[in-house]
Amino acid sequence: MRPSLTRMELLLDISEVGVVGCGLMGSGIAEISAKSGFSVVVREVDDEFLEAGRSRIKRSMDRAVEKEKLTAEERDSAWDKLTFTTDIADMAKCDIVIEAIVEELDAKHALFGALDELCGERTIFASNTSSLAITDMAAATSRADRFVGLHFFNPVPVMKLVEVVKTIATSQDTFERAFAFVQALGKAPIAAKDNSGFVVNLLLVPYLLDAIRQLDRGVASIADIDTAMVLGCGHPMGPFALCDFVGIDTLYKISEIMYSEYREERYAPPPLLRRLVSMGRFGRKTGQGFYDWSGDKPVPLPM
Ligand code: 3HC
Repeated sequence: MRPSLTRMELLLDISEVGVVGCGLMGSGIAEISAKSGFSVVVREVDDEFLEAGRSRIKRSMDRAVEKEKLTAEERDSAWDKLTFTTDIADMAKCDIVIEAIVEELDAKHALFGALDELCGERTIFASNTSSLAITDMAAATSRADRFVGLHFFNPVPVMKLVEVVKTIATSQDTFERAFAFVQALGKAPIAAKDNSGFVVNLLLVPYLLDAIRQLDRGVASIADIDTAMVLGCGHPMGPFALCDFVGIDTLYKISEIMYSEYREERYAPPPLLRRLVSMGRFGRKTGQGFYDWSGDKPVPLPM
């Protein structure tokens, strides 16, 4: 059954959005929330990370104006909706808090524990985790019924999908409010159960890992495997470009979490993936992964 909250009802219910973590995902979530008319408090651990996040959002909004997807007035009004802080106490007034910090359960437990003390009774907690169980985070708070997963996709301003994850403890009211919130962001929500990887990563991660295994077996080159999936299946990018785009370190972490959850070989990180992590070749963000991204066009690297 689909929730039936109207946009008006939703805006009366949720007006202040908290985003904790302003990396690639957090900055995208903050940006689209502000562009959709919500007041947004963005929190990072220190001034350096906060400034990096702030600049990323600014650049993205400026680019949207250059591409005529946003008027300068819309950008300015969205920008005015954003508040940046390093103080977790500033989350106290938020109606929904979306966590997009490092993919480590202990760090998430500590964060949600602190938020639980600060936030109001009706505040929804949401995690943008890609592979950890939402239930494990919810269980560490006194509001498991008001806890969901909201899994966004990179790049957040472009990708339409958000997986709305309902645990065995999430109340129907919370799920409906979260679902309507995603719709108010202009995104397309789907309902997913709280299994590691939800829907997309459950299918995508084995595909990416398999591409690495096939490369190791010498099936074809990086460039040819990518071309095969782009031209043969109409994917926007091939698996190796996508690994570099998602982040080699992120993919490694996700596959480790999924492997320890399911103990199935398909989720096991291939040794080559771990080698790249050891070398600090995390993909586009570090300039090298399966490709060298430093020039105009990505150049496949010898493996
Ligand atoms: N922010 C805002 N807009 C962006 C953007 C960004 N970071 N990156 C690209 N865009 C926009 C461009 O402005 C452009 O808009 P226009 O067509 O209106 O001018 C449009 O997206 C297409 O961009 P480009 O022409 O620059 O480049 P591409 O056509 O190659 O598209 C892409 C880039 C959108 C990233 C496309 O290659 C793509 O869809 N790739 C697949 C991405 C994907 O699979 N994401 C999911 C990853 S999995 C995940 O996130 C889950 C996690 O848990 C691991």
